[in-house]
Amino acid sequence: MDRAQAYEKLKKYGQEHVLRYYDELSGEEKNALLSQIEDTDFSILAHAAHPHVETGKGKVTPLGALELDQIRANGDRYRAAGLKAIREGKVGAVLLAGGMGTRLGSDDPKCMYDIGITHPVYIMERLISNLKDVVREAGVTVPLFVMTSEKNHDKTVAFMKEHDSFGYDPEMIRYFMQDMAPASDYEGKVYMESRSRMSTSPNGNGGWFLSMKKSGVLNRVKELGIEWLNIFAVDNVLQRIADPVFVGATIMNGCDCGAKVVRKAAPDEKVGVMCLEDGRPSVIEYYELTPQMMEERNEKGDYAYNFGVIMNYIFREKELERIVDEVLPLHVVEKKIPYLDEAGTFVKPEAPNGYKYEQLVLDMVREMNSCLPFEVVREREFAPIKNATGVDSVETARALLQKNGVSL
Ligand code: UD1
Repeated sequence: MDRAQAYEKLKKYGQEHVLRYYDELSGEEKNALLSQIEDTDFSILAHAAHPHVETGKGKVTPLGALELDQIRANGDRYRAAGLKAIREGKVGAVLLAGGMGTRLGSDDPKCMYDIGITHPVYIMERLISNLKDVVREAGVTVPLFVMTSEKNHDKTVAFMKEHDSFGYDPEMIRYFMQDMAPASDYEGKVYMESRSRMSTSPNGNGGWFLSMKKSGVLNRVKELGIEWLNIFAVDNVLQRIADPVFVGATIMNGCDCGAKVVRKAAPDEKVGVMCLEDGRPSVIEYYELTPQMMEERNEKGDYAYNFGVIMNYIFREKELERIVDEVLPLHVVEKKIPYLDEAGTFVKPEAPNGYKYEQLVLDMVREMNSCLPFEVVREREFAPIKNATGVDSVETARALLQKNGVSL
């Protein structure tokens, strides 16, 4: 793409300011900016005009879960079925680690965060250690796929190499990058992060399967004969990954998807909740839950929307292929976006100053025919590290890890 073509494309979307410094750039910078313009989908920025439009919510009704006592009653059968699938190589694990983790105040990938007290204990180390428990039990190594983004890929890969993948067979790990999306001000004008580069951010955790396909990693999934993919968030250091009981329960209940859930700590806890939408499985995010829904009770007297998702889902691979080319809804999320101001000075804002545009996993759940909400014990499986202090922080996660016998 040359300058004239770039200008035409920008003009179509009212983004001509992107070329403001073009004439002052070096040849290399000019080329980099032109190719970024060529690769960018500016049409998504139109969503800034109606950021709060709900993404196709139908009639939402409560959905229960397979509860702990039911799971315990069938635990041995579920475990046997899950272990069988794992031993047959049908289960892969996908770590979603493309997010920026800015809430922790670190510029490094979140997986590199050290939560140790007397010795280093990295988030990634904890996750791998949890996965290794299953490897030991099943006697086979579960293939691991790690989703990174342009912003943290090199550091993540180098960190894993430096630490010998924390004892995981590197041959069984594949890395792939998710796509980026432009970030804009409230009017939908894309921010510049330097004179030669537009601000971009990872395009949300809903694009993971498409990114697996685009990057070619999906070929490996097929070569290995993987039928189930267990995706999990980088920030929950307690979760069980490729958990045989969860895998077995999803298979034996004939579901296309399973979602680990916990009983909410409070009606307004900031977790998405499992529900039905027009009779289909779905997840409703905490900011979409009305006060009436938060307080609604079921016939047992419990909160009706009581099962929060912990971002640990299992999907039937064939079903993901069915939906991979469908365009998922776009969520407009208010965030702090570093940018170049009018005077050309780089600013790191203290408060949100614009929008990022994201696709979310929950919209993939909605496309599945069935989903099994699977209850797990909160204190044993949910220690998310979202914030530096307070709720869901390094402190709360440390306390939970210690309670579970992990030395920090
Ligand atoms: C998420 C879930 C919420 C759930 C909660 C549990 C969403 C929208 N919400 O909330 O339903 O109850 O976790 O803790 O997912 N990620 C990427 N690429 C991206 C964005 C995120 O890989 O572009 C990854 C993050 O690295 C992280 C995971 O997705 O592993 C969760 O993302 P985050 O944005 O932190 O979601 P939450 O708001 O915490």
